[in-house]
Amino acid sequence: MSAPTTSGNHPPREQFSGQVGFILSAIGSAVGLGNIWRFPGVAYENGGGAFLIPYVIALLTAGIPILFLDYALGHRFRGGPPTVFRRVKRWLETLGWFQVMICFVIAIYYAAIIGWALSYFVYSFDLSWGDDTAGFFTGDYLQLSDTANGGAWFTLDFVPAVLIPLVLVWLAAIVVLVAGVAKGIQRANVVFLPLLVVAFGILVVRSLFLDGAVDGLNEFFTPNWTALGDPNVWIAAYSQIFFSLSVAFGIMITYASYRKRRANLTSPGLVVAFSNSGFELLAGIGVFSALGFLAHEQGVAVGDLEGISGPILSFVTFPAVVSQMPAGPLFGALFFGSLAMAGFTSLISILQVVSASFQEKFALRRQTAALWIGVVCAVLSVVGFSTTTGLFALDTIDNWSNNIGIVASAVLMCVFIVWALRRGPELRYHVNAISTFQVGRWWYACVGVIVPAVLAYMLVERIITLVEEPYEGYDPTYLLYVGWGTLVVLVVGAIALSLPRWRRDPEDFVAWPPFPSSSATTTSKEAAR
Ligand code: ALA
Repeated sequence: MSAPTTSGNHPPREQFSGQVGFILSAIGSAVGLGNIWRFPGVAYENGGGAFLIPYVIALLTAGIPILFLDYALGHRFRGGPPTVFRRVKRWLETLGWFQVMICFVIAIYYAAIIGWALSYFVYSFDLSWGDDTAGFFTGDYLQLSDTANGGAWFTLDFVPAVLIPLVLVWLAAIVVLVAGVAKGIQRANVVFLPLLVVAFGILVVRSLFLDGAVDGLNEFFTPNWTALGDPNVWIAAYSQIFFSLSVAFGIMITYASYRKRRANLTSPGLVVAFSNSGFELLAGIGVFSALGFLAHEQGVAVGDLEGISGPILSFVTFPAVVSQMPAGPLFGALFFGSLAMAGFTSLISILQVVSASFQEKFALRRQTAALWIGVVCAVLSVVGFSTTTGLFALDTIDNWSNNIGIVASAVLMCVFIVWALRRGPELRYHVNAISTFQVGRWWYACVGVIVPAVLAYMLVERIITLVEEPYEGYDPTYLLYVGWGTLVVLVVGAIALSLPRWRRDPEDFVAWPPFPSSSATTTSKEAAR
């Protein structure tokens, strides 16, 4: 049976040019700041070598199964998350918009970090940060207000050194989105991903030969087994996997919808998942070898170094390493160049979710949607994160959107699609009908039982911790507005965007290939009602 090329009154869908373009783009989306900026610090703080156990378990029980779920949904129902969920069941559209809102919020702060990386790429050449890298980052560069200690929560004091690269990032992102899936997103990935692999490869190999590298690696890989009894360590592993693999918040749904109808899904999925984790491990090895070197130079133990997590690791500790090593400027440029490239290929995937969803619901031209969404996000990003209060907002919003938003989205997706609507068999049939690697019944156990049960428990634990202990010791009122406020924005935005009428009927659509055992599951109009 031949695959239809269009659906109902919908315009033909854009497509990746082929399997390689898709795989490169999906890896480009997955490998991002999460791998370089987040993973080494998260692993270190959550048990070091022992963290690799929950990490691998999270990858196998949730990351890959949800990646397949995302692929199946996006490829079968052909759209951004609101279109896809609406085609599964009319009332599920709001969950689609919830995922779009997560992308919207993440894009706004994610671009800021890429902007910082660009600045630091330039600063690398003459090691502008000097000897006091912490003072340079928070003082000279970000000109941070003392929000954590009673300073202003929000100012409109723009910092030009942060603002200019941020605007450049947004301009580049808008150009790529306007150019479209094949000519914009795929091309950007085809250029940046190989460059990233070469640059980062050189960096990691160089780090391994630094004095003290072995101590850094020992620190990274030495397991702290007691950490495994702490639910927060498991939450960190699952959140890291979701964020890093770009699953459960619409990105892989959207990317899979641009593959042609007859396209292998699962084997490329495994390539993407293992490449992403491989890169993550590589980043951990590179970063900790470099930290070993820093500790060696300072004559302290690696564990006594300060600033081994989050933005501080990349923008304070790493510059200190660069300053002390031979050929430091080159090393710095490779690191920050890699960070910027990895971040950029992920940013465009995050934004594509928002752009595609608006195009589909409001029947907008690609160029119009991309331009408007780019401009709105850019303005919010500049106002929120290129001022003297940007870092606190970024850290807080990142924590709530990831650890609560994405995890909640994963739970809801599994509960509604697999439990309530019982669409698991249809989705498994879909991927198996067109893919080489066949998904077995184990997949139901993962997406139907393990992911929702484990994640729901973790989510509750996480919420209790956040309620009981102010995150990072920030002012509780600040956390109420900025942290919990982020969640309110996600939910209210999702509901508000579900309300307007569709300009083109999303249910005028037939899923392919037809699911043999039930006539009610092919998402024609009857199924959607
Ligand atoms: N997957 C992207 C990252 O790891 C969002 O940064």
